[in-house]
Amino acid sequence: MQYSDSLPAHNAESLLVHFRRVERLKEQATEFKSVYLNPRQLCDLEMLLNRAFYPLEGYMCRADYESVLADMALADGTLWPLPICLGVTEEFAATLTPGEGIAVRDSEGFMLAVLTVSDVWKPDLAAETFAIFGEDGDHSVAGCNCDLEDPWYVGGRVEGIAFPQRYDFTDIRMTPAEVQRFFVQKGWRKVVAVQASRPLHKADRAMLEEIALEEGASLLLSPLLSPSMYSSVDHFVLVRSFQQFSDTFPRNLAKLNLSPWFQRSMGPKGALLRAIVNKNYGCTHMLVWDSGKMKPRLNALSDEYEAHIHWLSGYAETTGVIPVAEHCMSLDKATGKYVNSAEGGLCGNDHEAVVDLLVKGEPIPDWMSFPGVIRELSRKYKPRWKQGFTLFFSGLSGAGKSTLAKVLYVKLLELNHRPVTLLDGDIVRTNLSSELNFSKEHRNLNVARIGFVASEIVKNGGVAVCAPIAPYPESRRQARHMVEEYGGFIEIHVSTPLSVCEQRDRKGIYAKARAGIIKGLTGVDDPYFEPENPELRIDTSELTPNEAAHEVLMFLSDNKYI
Ligand code: PPS
Repeated sequence: MQYSDSLPAHNAESLLVHFRRVERLKEQATEFKSVYLNPRQLCDLEMLLNRAFYPLEGYMCRADYESVLADMALADGTLWPLPICLGVTEEFAATLTPGEGIAVRDSEGFMLAVLTVSDVWKPDLAAETFAIFGEDGDHSVAGCNCDLEDPWYVGGRVEGIAFPQRYDFTDIRMTPAEVQRFFVQKGWRKVVAVQASRPLHKADRAMLEEIALEEGASLLLSPLLSPSMYSSVDHFVLVRSFQQFSDTFPRNLAKLNLSPWFQRSMGPKGALLRAIVNKNYGCTHMLVWDSGKMKPRLNALSDEYEAHIHWLSGYAETTGVIPVAEHCMSLDKATGKYVNSAEGGLCGNDHEAVVDLLVKGEPIPDWMSFPGVIRELSRKYKPRWKQGFTLFFSGLSGAGKSTLAKVLYVKLLELNHRPVTLLDGDIVRTNLSSELNFSKEHRNLNVARIGFVASEIVKNGGVAVCAPIAPYPESRRQARHMVEEYGGFIEIHVSTPLSVCEQRDRKGIYAKARAGIIKGLTGVDDPYFEPENPELRIDTSELTPNEAAHEVLMFLSDNKYI
């Protein structure tokens, strides 16, 4: 099996075509069918266009695909471990004929490339999964990274019009050719590729310094980004923490670069593809983390991990990239420095410990991390008393949600720790959801909107006090999910029994429902699914509003929110 010997001769640094050809393609594209790519597919297209997937010149045709699955090589014998395919619906596939052009677009419709169709086929996804993962593969991942359950694949050469548009960190996004040129200019003959999906700290730094010294190599540092998170806080925190981490190295030792490579979770074959990609960036070595778990280890290297490194090493001559195993580093308490501990000991990876301390609001010891990295992380991981939070009251009409929400609104304003916003059911129904009715679909939409507004409030450090009926678990879960990205979500089931609510009947709504004047009232002829694990359950038939509010305030203070 060959890799380097069989590479095509032409030397294009990207698959972008000359602007005269772009003009022509744009004219022709009015006649073309279009495919729209999701964020992961956009990364794959960018890797094709910038030649990180060299020598591929487009999406795999059927012969290459089958050969990759059977022999881990393209049809011409070039080592290639995983399919890189474009997935489309069966309906779309049925309209395609070989030789025609397809406009490949981002989700906004911007044309990035034209694919000339050579093959269209229905892949056997079970066989594909088996070829990638072997016996124990129960993964339902298709090589096309598309969101379709039953995709058809389209293969063919790609002519690039533009790279996918990126607006963040543009100064550290270099193409493989630019990175490789940088190495040549700097005289870096050996470079270890280091990709990580979590922020790195002092133990990692000590390990990388040791590896660099041992191999006589410099380092190419790249945070492993998740395409679906490109606009989330996590994305920015990770990249900024990498910038800080990279700045701790002397300039001639480390280079930071953002690449569109993302974590594929495709086992050993994924690692082998990463080796090929790293070679295309000009690297000679690649750090292989211990099964990607990146957890503290009590022992030296596991057998499984050793076997994985051994397997990858078997291809080092072909790929041109030597895999490097993690070193076990442990803290030497006497000097406060990390040292290699081949015999084991608690091996370094302090990330979870750093986060834990940040959330508790405790100081981070000097030996754990760098001030710059901590500063970046502390923008996301705040102690609870600095985080925003949502009080989410849910319960039947008349259960006492609004009363309780109003008491807490006032009490939290009085504390004056954070800005407080009241999103009572009535306020929301008037201002945000006035066009919605009380069908299941509209109730879920209403609650999802409340969750969205609350998450924006929490993101900016405020408190949202929400009091919808919220009868369905799915939208309550959705609201929790949105809010918890930024702060606390405290679900309070106001569990006052229906009989008490009905007896109170301040709005006369139960009387109307019993008389058949209104239909679909929650608790009467519409369901209420009780929260299974709320942070608090309060029955207001047994408590005054002040007593009930006190329970909530006690919870907030016990859990260090106030
Ligand atoms: S939901 O299910 O969460 O979207 O409901 P919500 O936005 O909280 O609105 C509940 C208030 O609307 C009044 N109302 C009804 N409630 C339930 N079912 C039906 N069919 C209905 N029709 C009108 C009712 O007064 C609720 O106010 P509260 O403050 O809960 O009593």
